[in-house]
Amino acid sequence: MSRAPSPCLLAANWKMNMDYLQTLDFLRRLSILLPESLRGKGPVEMALFPPFTSLRTAQVFSNSYRLPLSLGAQDVSPHASGSFTGEISASMLRTLGCEYVLVGHSESRRNHHETREELVGKVKNSVACGMRPILCVGEKEKGRGSWEEIISQSEEVFSDLEPFEREKVIISYEPVWAIGSSETASPECIFKAVSALKGETEEKFNLSPTVLYGGSVNEGNIGSLKGLGLGGFLVGRASLDPAEFAAIFQCLNEEEGGKR
Ligand code: 13P
Repeated sequence: MSRAPSPCLLAANWKMNMDYLQTLDFLRRLSILLPESLRGKGPVEMALFPPFTSLRTAQVFSNSYRLPLSLGAQDVSPHASGSFTGEISASMLRTLGCEYVLVGHSESRRNHHETREELVGKVKNSVACGMRPILCVGEKEKGRGSWEEIISQSEEVFSDLEPFEREKVIISYEPVWAIGSSETASPECIFKAVSALKGETEEKFNLSPTVLYGGSVNEGNIGSLKGLGLGGFLVGRASLDPAEFAAIFQCLNEEEGGKR
């Protein structure tokens, strides 16, 4: 059973980092760092998106270490089952306790040339198996002043979904230029992009989606990013260090984080 959504999701996208031994070490260190007061069901939900090979370790040991962690996968097959060598299905991920799955991260879009049909298939299969897809959208170039690119990235998927599937989709605004750089998007830019995304989805689909932000979020800038009406954050590099990840979690908890 999925738990009720928290007002703010703090998600760690580990990308192709952390084998299962390193995952184990991360969890052990996080369990030492996390105060007892933050281990209950608070306003901020912490979710780990490790590589596939570390999911089972994260599933078993987050319980052993009494860590309040949800699990997510970084990708999923657009197919339900069958002759798709090398692919991982949504039902396999659900069996491992995954509640979330990333769909269309800019690195997957770039490296695997994902088509619209594949993105739609990934979302549909994830929802059918009881998971919430996190659809990543983001403009490639900084400062173009237009949100057409991100609106069309979300619309091209939303338009092929049934209403009950759309309701499950979380959007993550991740400007490509801010990912893995030293620069995060400004609060003003995030606010405008998120307002544009929400406005369009409300108008076209009568839906107000949860929107996260990702792109060089860290311990130093999280304070300036909360309070923008976001549903949470998707953190890359800064989530690989348990001390920094715990500090971000603590900072979001201090003021209830964003609001989904
Ligand atoms: P960084 O936090 O390393 O910029 O990565 C962000 C990201 O890709 C989240 O999905």
